[in-house]
Amino acid sequence: MISQHEDTRLIVRSPEGEYPIVLGRGLLDRVGSLARELALGERVVIATDTTVQPLYAEQVARSLAAESFVPHIAAMRAGEEHKNWASVQGFVDSFIDAQLDRGGWVLALGGGVVGDTAGFAASIYMRGVPLVQVPTTLLAMADSSIGGKVGIDHARGKNLLGAFKQPRLVVADLDTLHTLPSRELACGMAEIVKAGIIGDPDLFDMIESASPEDLELAGALLRAMRVKRDIVERDPHEAGERALLNLGHTFGHAFEHCTGYARPHGYAVAQGMVVACRLAVNLDLCDPSLEARLRSVLEAWNLPTHWAEPDLTSPEALPSVLSAMQTDKKRLNTRPRLILPRAPGNVIITADIPPESIANALEQTR
Ligand code: NAD
Ligand code: GLY
Repeated sequence: MISQHEDTRLIVRSPEGEYPIVLGRGLLDRVGSLARELALGERVVIATDTTVQPLYAEQVARSLAAESFVPHIAAMRAGEEHKNWASVQGFVDSFIDAQLDRGGWVLALGGGVVGDTAGFAASIYMRGVPLVQVPTTLLAMADSSIGGKVGIDHARGKNLLGAFKQPRLVVADLDTLHTLPSRELACGMAEIVKAGIIGDPDLFDMIESASPEDLELAGALLRAMRVKRDIVERDPHEAGERALLNLGHTFGHAFEHCTGYARPHGYAVAQGMVVACRLAVNLDLCDPSLEARLRSVLEAWNLPTHWAEPDLTSPEALPSVLSAMQTDKKRLNTRPRLILPRAPGNVIITADIPPESIANALEQTR
């Protein structure tokens, strides 16, 4: 259930200054006036993808034009497999075509793929132009639009190229979730469950005790946004604590890479959290009941909990996953840095896990 009748504003403090996250309904029609509150130039590129463009780009353009901005629309091809240099190049070309000078700005309209790719293009164009994030997936609202990480994938590994580019504003319009396919909604829930385990045990309880139909989604989303906001404020550049946000991601990124990015990020995170939990159980770091609770929450949302399904079932899959984990950018020397749960609200970061323990946990959860 998606309610939330009034806007909610969260302020994020970052090294580049404060910015608001505005969460509510009907916000796409008000993007122009929200942007007007900032000192931004008149030229703006609405950077989106080929799925979101026909749904929302004109609506956003009208809202901007009504406030005397001059909007141009540019769309990358939708999908993680296009989170690459070619799409960055396409956005940069559109910035030049739109005559975006250093007073111009970029509005990223879409899911995490658009936010990361367009944000990266904004971070390098003319050494950086302002960025506004308008997330249209649950995942992007809960996670990727907040905190300033932008970037693209490389043939050898996920998110290997990137930058920190703090947005000037994040506008999360709950109405956009009505067009989101249920699979993508579930993917967003994977990151919201993650937020509960990392930093909000009551959020985890809330998700566990409601069916997907009965969960107050806007309330759960807001709690997840707060978890992310609090962590990135304390550790904006991932000197330490921010790595906790990668619970399940070291495994998940390897699953994504080994499937040629056919596996949705949220699915990979769900499966990765289960492996991390099993590893923690095997190491006596956490009670086995947490793995059962995690699986049952994920399954209620139709999220997969066995990582080999459907396309990593061959005998070569396990060695490929272990090898892909070696390119993870969070590794310490040759050992992957893992985030392991002890209990909801209590997670640790370690690079001290023997390779055979990692392989065992993967073998047991395939
Ligand atoms: P996505 O951007 O690929 O969106 C999923 C699909 O939904 C796409 O086909 C998209 O076109 C479509 N879509 C988007 N909004 C829609 C809407 N309102 N209605 C209908 N269709 C819509 O995927 P995602 O799950 O949003 O994001 C995943 C990406 O985010 C990954 O690349 C991941 O690495 C990244 N990420 C980044 C951070 C960060 O901090 N920067 C954090 C988490 C995830
Ligand atoms: N999603 C990981 C981070 O923002 O740090």
